[in-house]
Amino acid sequence: MTTTIETYGVDPTPTPLALLLLGREADPNSERGVECPGDLPPASDPDLVERARAAKEKLGDRVFILGHHYQRDEVIEFADVTGDSFKLARDAAARPEAEYIVFCGVHFMAESADILTGPAQQVILPDLAAGCSMADMATAEQVAECWDVLTDAGIADITVPVSYMNSSADIKAFTGKHGGTICTSSNAKRALEWAYEQGQKVLFLPDQHLGRNTAVREMGFSLDDCVLYNPHKPNGGLTAEQLRNAKMILWRGHCSVHGRFSLDSVNDVRARIPGVTVLVHPECKHEVVAAADMVGSTEYIIKALDAAEPGSKWAIGTELNLVRRMAKAHPDKEIVFLDRAVCFCSTMNRIDLPHLVWALESLVDGRVPNVITVDPETEKYAKAALDRMLALP
Ligand code: 13P
Ligand code: SF4
Repeated sequence: MTTTIETYGVDPTPTPLALLLLGREADPNSERGVECPGDLPPASDPDLVERARAAKEKLGDRVFILGHHYQRDEVIEFADVTGDSFKLARDAAARPEAEYIVFCGVHFMAESADILTGPAQQVILPDLAAGCSMADMATAEQVAECWDVLTDAGIADITVPVSYMNSSADIKAFTGKHGGTICTSSNAKRALEWAYEQGQKVLFLPDQHLGRNTAVREMGFSLDDCVLYNPHKPNGGLTAEQLRNAKMILWRGHCSVHGRFSLDSVNDVRARIPGVTVLVHPECKHEVVAAADMVGSTEYIIKALDAAEPGSKWAIGTELNLVRRMAKAHPDKEIVFLDRAVCFCSTMNRIDLPHLVWALESLVDGRVPNVITVDPETEKYAKAALDRMLALP
């Protein structure tokens, strides 16, 4: 099959589901996203920093605060650890003594933390509206239907599902049930190598770009080895022959934040800043990744910038909170956002200081707010998939 530019260079048309930007259980009509029992302090409260500090101190070792790199500075300031989704999953699992894990990130990360922590620990997401539009692009029903299509094409038993961490617990459970593994942007190559030792084909969910970029850049596949499964079309929009010929079956999902970077953004920044090094996240489109100088997860981006020579120039293609923080931390280097238009992850940004203060003060008052719980059956299979990832060499 010939892969055309439409199948890999252009974002999928938004679907009503993909537009559920606020994630599960969100109320899109409410600025606050969801109701917060008790008082959500106003953002203008001058004592917010002091209140967060006091509540955290009162809770001591009972609370452990995790902060994803895309969180706001005001939140990161209170994180006990920061990291990419892989590191945070490990950090959550390594803290059995903390009663409460406050997850400053998005819903799928908090679910993974719940799966990986003990039964006596509770995982709290300070705003339930912090979902992920990419994770919402693959539902359990759609993926079950896809598996039926693969079964009808006679390839389900030689296909191994590999799901990006950025997926719901249901999708992780599907992955575990069918002998697959989870991956993150920092271990996608190792996960794919493992998967191709178990079977002949991979169903990669839900981020087409991470799947394609890893297969083509790091595994030596051609674009024609990959097909794109569109859950909104009968049989994914593919013939049985196309599925049988493919080595990599990519789900048609993407990140709306990284999807904004284009080849023009790369060409434009190279013209504006001679000598610039373009460093992008693998959730960017293939054409962007192909034109960049370096590619890696948030943790990789941070390490690369920390190690960079003073006076070096960098254009970074990832979420803006992180890029701004890195620019501030390295005034001796020129670090700019890859695109001219600013681009935060709106759902990551839902977690702000008022929500963190509200969550911590609720805990001090004996109320445990916004607990993220995965049901035991889902947890069992999702954990199998996550454990496979954590055991990858
Ligand atoms: P990493 O932190 O794993 O690089 O992922 C980026 C991301 O989009 C998280 O939502
Ligand atoms: Fe989801 Fe993209 Fe936001 Fe990450 S940056 S949480 S993948 S929408």
